[in-house]
Amino acid sequence: MKKILKGFLRSLGYTIAPIIVQAVEEDTLSISKEEMERFMYEGIHLHRYAPWLTDEKFKQLHNKIKDYTLVDAYRCYELFDIVQRLNNIDGDIIEIGVWRGGTSAVIATALQFVNSNKMLYLCDTFSGVVKAGDFDIRYKGGEHSDTSEQLVTDLLTSLQLKNFKLLKGIFPEDTGSAVENKTFSLCHIDVDVYQSGVDIVEWIYAKLSKGGVLVFDDYGFRGCNGITHLVNKLRQDEKWLYIYNLNGHAILIKR
Ligand SMILES: C[S@@+](CC[C@H](N)C(=O)[O-])C[C@H]1O[C@@H](n2cnc3c(N)ncnc32)[C@H](O)[C@@H]1O
Repeated sequence: MKKILKGFLRSLGYTIAPIIVQAVEEDTLSISKEEMERFMYEGIHLHRYAPWLTDEKFKQLHNKIKDYTLVDAYRCYELFDIVQRLNNIDGDIIEIGVWRGGTSAVIATALQFVNSNKMLYLCDTFSGVVKAGDFDIRYKGGEHSDTSEQLVTDLLTSLQLKNFKLLKGIFPEDTGSAVENKTFSLCHIDVDVYQSGVDIVEWIYAKLSKGGVLVFDDYGFRGCNGITHLVNKLRQDEKWLYIYNLNGHAILIKR
């Protein structure tokens, strides 16, 4: 009976997301990995509008960058789309959490497609994750250190992209001052752990234009409990219009 009810509700798509979000934050997931993967992706790419499978410009770009990113095609497509839509919102773009530059290349290419004069600031320690704490049960610090500034520069220049600047160091402590007086329309936060996320949101709020957007990667992902916890706090705050896109992105729009 339980199985039939579960299947019926799942077919309607109603109760799946809350169960996953809650379970993932508590890390007490009681469904199998296979079931979770099906929940997370089947509905998205088989039954709904799926432009990442049909947009030729995006597909060509994705082929070139897919080995330089940990982010799947769904989320890359979302960044590609949001960047183009935000061209009329005042302010530059900042990404914290670059690793090998895959999502950075997506954002910079999207800017080029709309002939934007926005600058893209790319912030990373280039020596891995920092500030891991109690919420971040799968992080200790130093993860994703297998990259370099040169590798990212080479990727972006091989794609004829010029509209970017790398900022090496812990953000915001080491590199925030380099962009202190800027205004931003978009901040892509892909830092894996709670405290880095907190510090970034605190730093960027006053510099984000009205209608400007925070895109959080890893929302609801197993292992990124700290980010899920942070977004679950921010989504209660009236300052933000919150959208959960079911693909691992949480989107917060400044009201
Ligand atoms: C998951 S990776 C980023 C993935 C990347 N966006 C992609 O396309 O695959 C996370 C990155 O965040 C960086 N990072 C984490 N916290 C940071 C902080 N406070 N300041 C700067 N870099 C940070 C790490 O060095 C690491 O390279």
